[in-house]
Amino acid sequence: MRSVNIGICGLGTVGAGVYNVLSRNSKHINSRANCNIVISQVGARRDNPNCDTGSTDVSRDIFDVAKNPAVDVVVELIGGTDVAYELVMTALNNGKHVVTANKALIAQHGMEIFAAAESRGLMVAYEAAVAGGIPIIKALREGLAANRVHWLAGIINGTTNFILSEMDSKGRDFADVLTEAQEKGYAEADPTFDVEGIDAAHKLVIMASLAFGMPLSLEGIFTDGITKLEPQDVAYARELGYAIKHLGIARQSDAGIELRVHPTLVPESCLIAGVNGVSNAVMVNADAVGTTLYYGPGAGSEPTASSVIADIVDVARTMGAGADCWVPALGIASADLQANKIMDIQDIETSFYIRFSALDKSGVLSNITGIMADAGISIEAIIQREQPAGEDYVNVIILTNVTQEKLLDAAVENIEQLETVRGNVSFIRVEHLDQ
Ligand code: HSE
Repeated sequence: MRSVNIGICGLGTVGAGVYNVLSRNSKHINSRANCNIVISQVGARRDNPNCDTGSTDVSRDIFDVAKNPAVDVVVELIGGTDVAYELVMTALNNGKHVVTANKALIAQHGMEIFAAAESRGLMVAYEAAVAGGIPIIKALREGLAANRVHWLAGIINGTTNFILSEMDSKGRDFADVLTEAQEKGYAEADPTFDVEGIDAAHKLVIMASLAFGMPLSLEGIFTDGITKLEPQDVAYARELGYAIKHLGIARQSDAGIELRVHPTLVPESCLIAGVNGVSNAVMVNADAVGTTLYYGPGAGSEPTASSVIADIVDVARTMGAGADCWVPALGIASADLQANKIMDIQDIETSFYIRFSALDKSGVLSNITGIMADAGISIEAIIQREQPAGEDYVNVIILTNVTQEKLLDAAVENIEQLETVRGNVSFIRVEHLDQ
């Protein structure tokens, strides 16, 4: 059998996982790849106690790997966008195929990297960039190739899902759960990327490009994190029969493309509402197949390694064939990609959960429902909580029917101006994910 030499750059959580799984399952992986996959060099600034590199050549300079004439495939697992970009471009300029788990790099520089690879007759594969161990890139690019995708919605950040699940089921403190996620290697080097939705935005853009045949671009995406979520909203949502999940949503309609990441109420009856812990799940609704769901571990050493190695196998198996046999990086020829209008969040239609504190006296609720009616917003459900002894204000929670966000915003502003309403009105978007 021929040999394919790989060079692994980065020996952190994912790099160690790739090294360990490749070593442990080498016989099985080689027969899948129909060649011998050899780790010919590792580039890492420091050793990892979870990985015994034995007699493998380890360089402290990752660029040695990108320039090593013996290496056929460079596996970029260092993360970040500056050095990683340099490394990938150096690898391509030196005639290496590239496998990467780096979502930020692909979301921000993917078009340039793919063009550089295409012009040099090289492959760039990035299965591990989205949803860890779930083969969602392959599903969107190849498994669903027959379909027009209408929408997709996913829990695509394991750290935020882990935090929300622990807060919901155990009443744990946000900071405490985040520390645990960092210790377990789920969180990004800068965890604000997780909790503010930036990591999910990177992954959403990649999935949307594959689903809708658009060039990669972060422009126009709406991003909101979980840091402002209050435990009482998780509890009220449960009372109404919903779970709060941090979702990335992409939808194509005649009005344009919706690209948004935000906390979302999802009915408990929806499968994705039961996805807890570090797990990810992506629902895809498409014209021929209907709705499909992809579920599994969204982060972690060996789950992510599983996706990285799938790419190594793909590249190793097909690099002998001509470029016209390879699946293009975004599933279709680059010349066929079409930029689409990304909709402003204000123009998007969805249902809403709203919560505010109102004076408990007659006429107050009718003022509020009057404001909603004047805005053309129909109310689906309303809860008013009995006030604690000595308290004049009560919490009011309203679920609306589908409305445009700008109408909801105007109604919220009017409600906040009522003298009988105290403080701000909080709102969370609601998705039923049923059509
Ligand atoms: N920080 C990411 C997450 C790692 O929590 O999902 C996987 O991309």
